[in-house]
Amino acid sequence: MIARIDGETLCLILQRGDDGLAHLVWFGPKNNDVMARAPHFQRLPASPDVPVGPTLHPAHGHGFHNIAQVEAHCHKTRRLLRLKPPEFAASDRQITLNSHDESLGVRVVTTMTFRGDALAVTCCLHNDGETSIDVTRAASLLIPTPDWASRLVTWAGAWGREGHYTERDWSTGRIEQLGRAGRPGFDGGPTLSLLETGANVAHGRWLTAHLAWSGAFRLAAERATDGSGQLLAERLLAPGEIRLEPGASLVLPETVVALSYEGSNGVSRVYHDIIRSEGLRVKRLVHFNTWEARYFDVTEEKCISLAKQAAELGAERFVLDDGWFKGRHNDETSLGDWSADEAKFPNGLMPLIDAVHAEGMEFGLWLEPEMVSPDSDLCRDHPDWVLGWPEAELATGRNQLVLDLSLPAVREHLFLTIAALLDAYPISYVKWDCNRDLYPATSGGVASLGLQTEGLYELLDRLRIAYKVQIESCASGGGRIDAGIASRTDRFWASDTTDAIDRLRVQRAASFAMPTERLGCHIGPSPNPMTGREISMEFRVLAALFGHMGIEANPAHFNDNDKAILMRGLEISKAHRDWMGDGQLLNLSEPGDDPDLQMLVSAGGDQALLRIMRVNTPVRPLQPRIRLAGLDQQSHYELVELALRGDPMVWPLGNFMGRGLMHDGLVLDSARALTGRLIHLRKTE
Ligand code: GLA
Repeated sequence: MIARIDGETLCLILQRGDDGLAHLVWFGPKNNDVMARAPHFQRLPASPDVPVGPTLHPAHGHGFHNIAQVEAHCHKTRRLLRLKPPEFAASDRQITLNSHDESLGVRVVTTMTFRGDALAVTCCLHNDGETSIDVTRAASLLIPTPDWASRLVTWAGAWGREGHYTERDWSTGRIEQLGRAGRPGFDGGPTLSLLETGANVAHGRWLTAHLAWSGAFRLAAERATDGSGQLLAERLLAPGEIRLEPGASLVLPETVVALSYEGSNGVSRVYHDIIRSEGLRVKRLVHFNTWEARYFDVTEEKCISLAKQAAELGAERFVLDDGWFKGRHNDETSLGDWSADEAKFPNGLMPLIDAVHAEGMEFGLWLEPEMVSPDSDLCRDHPDWVLGWPEAELATGRNQLVLDLSLPAVREHLFLTIAALLDAYPISYVKWDCNRDLYPATSGGVASLGLQTEGLYELLDRLRIAYKVQIESCASGGGRIDAGIASRTDRFWASDTTDAIDRLRVQRAASFAMPTERLGCHIGPSPNPMTGREISMEFRVLAALFGHMGIEANPAHFNDNDKAILMRGLEISKAHRDWMGDGQLLNLSEPGDDPDLQMLVSAGGDQALLRIMRVNTPVRPLQPRIRLAGLDQQSHYELVELALRGDPMVWPLGNFMGRGLMHDGLVLDSARALTGRLIHLRKTE
């Protein structure tokens, strides 16, 4: 029996083998599938008599010692789940695999669906039986790995320093990308890639799994000594967390798999397409954010003055960050008490909002709804609403505790509180922060790791249905960037560092799976508050230009020259942002290379931007050529340099043929440390 589904350029074929198991015989380009064969496993004297090779829905009990897809047992008798090999069928773009344990009455249904070239895989467990089932592990994705996979890529990081590309060998054994903290974290989140040796941004095969889940997760690649490998993605289940009662189901988060034969740029294209297709199209208004301008020192008067300066520079939305609510003067108090501080905003927020509107800007507000300060009215009124152990001293993080979102009363309270703010004030945007991990992730001592994420999703979904408000996902910077939250929000704050050099790395890593227009990229102060580095305004503006731009510094500290450069940069962004929001991102340099080279090519291919960011003085004086990508070989392109310095102007570089630009390239690197260039390409014929 064979089942086949087709994506845009890829296809996937399953076949039932002589062993009765479901084998993945092909996942790759459509025209190569004629070579597809079920895997052959050589029988060795020490192996099971019927050798078990890589299969979909692997289960223990056949001599298979790798990872099983589901681990569960009957709560009463402790009898282990024993799933039969699945029945499978294909319809349209979807394959469904159905596997049963008739004795326990458990069904496991896995679906694999092509959306474009993204393969979305998910799984659901149903208890049709009469006894409770304890589930200890359940993977939404578990597929055999291709034999060419020999390298593994993740991104390492920590607060304010996300996005370090990490590539290593993967031959045998297991490598995990694990997040236990209850939010995806700064360490690359729920993404893992397998590569062939030598693959890079533009060449070679990449297979990437990304789990659409904003809680604790595990992704793993494991290859046994028999040569069989598996790629796994799962929501992490805490002990005792999932008891499936008769009639109940457990829906696991979706994993999105991308396969590219054209390097990581091809993987990014698949993710960007699917994230864009599932989100709302919103105008990327230029932000002004008060955080690095004033931190907690915000008042009506100071903010109105900031709003005027921000509007003069070209900001289109004013976001009032932390510090605006009752008693909040530092990070030690007040989370949970979401009403305007009477000393700072004696007339509520309306005078500020009116001033913001008078300047032609929209208004946005910072909230951290999932959290509560022990020193707050909310915590004093509802000490039982926090995650933790009953009667135990609770560990704080940034002086705060986590509200227990598994409790319906907490979710209701948060919905009503946020709804009251949105009803009282014309707020078009919420910066939704989450500044600590979940520890202990227990609701009164009972594991509540995933319930917390489910509670958050329910709250966000309810708000999105009730209000037309855009939401930014921020978690101490880039601590919550994943496709699960992406479908419920409009933008990410990729890092708390606004240092432009760090930002090149951070934004490149975040844009691996997320489209650049979703990434908040702000021009911060110089010297930078986190790194102390002094970086020119020109470099800072260029570093932010491929994302959703904003200003996050006190304009009073900018000199006139800097203001002119910044305003010119914002004008360029506004002139190009519509097509950039659909454009394809192409990295021309490898992570960490200097210069950092990126292009954004419009969906129709009629225009593009090339950005060259040189951080250090090059070792060699001979300038290598920069070879472009994504152009039409036969077409001609007019190249102009969009200069930021001096009067608004363009510097014509000439007309060139796509083929020449891609094969021969041009010498464009300025070779001077901390300089950047921005070139616009327009197809002329
Ligand atoms: C987090 C965010 C920052 C800022 C502060 C406010 O660190 O990432 O951007 O909003 O909280 O406390």
